[in-house]
Amino acid sequence: MPIRNNSKLFIITALMGFVIALPGLRADGAKTQKSAAHDREELMEMAGFATKTAAKMVEGKTPWDGKKAELAMRTLQAVGLAFGHKVPEGSITEDSEASPDIWKNMKDFQHQVSELESHSDKAAKAARKGLDAFKPEFTATVKYCKTCHKKYRIKKKS
Ligand code: HEC
Repeated sequence: MPIRNNSKLFIITALMGFVIALPGLRADGAKTQKSAAHDREELMEMAGFATKTAAKMVEGKTPWDGKKAELAMRTLQAVGLAFGHKVPEGSITEDSEASPDIWKNMKDFQHQVSELESHSDKAAKAARKGLDAFKPEFTATVKYCKTCHKKYRIKKKS
């Protein structure tokens, strides 16, 4: 089953770039904070791309492709696995859209990260059963984009 290898590869690639560079392992604090903010942006851009790909299929703008949908959800899952490691204390840069509230409510923030991870896992599994099974799980997953952004993202870019 090529899709399984593909999605695994995708996750591994994502994780290599983001998780292995765990903040605490670096000596230079300022550099760590800057790169954490940068990694957050990259991860979220991946999430944005994956979400758009799946949303277009759900809305019928592009044909349904279960493998593509599954891969998109595995990408979100990888983002969910990595994102929680990218919030070292003080890692807000000038361009960063992270709200200081993250560090005031770290437990709640991490809870939302894990919701993204677990729901995207369910949605990835549902994608194998077809569009009708996928739709509600996808909707449940993307709910967390909004919930978290409302609380923890200060939108600076359009
Ligand atoms: C647990 C919280 C959380 C969840 C869940 C979440 N985001 Fe984010 N998102 C953030 C934060 C925080 C930022 C700002 C990051 C920064 O600039 O440091 C952000 C930024 C973004 C950005 C802007 C990236 C850039 O280029 O600056 C996009 C796009 C985005 N998120 C898409 C999504 C999508 C799509 C989902 C759902 C699939 C999602 N996010 C789920 C917290 C979250």
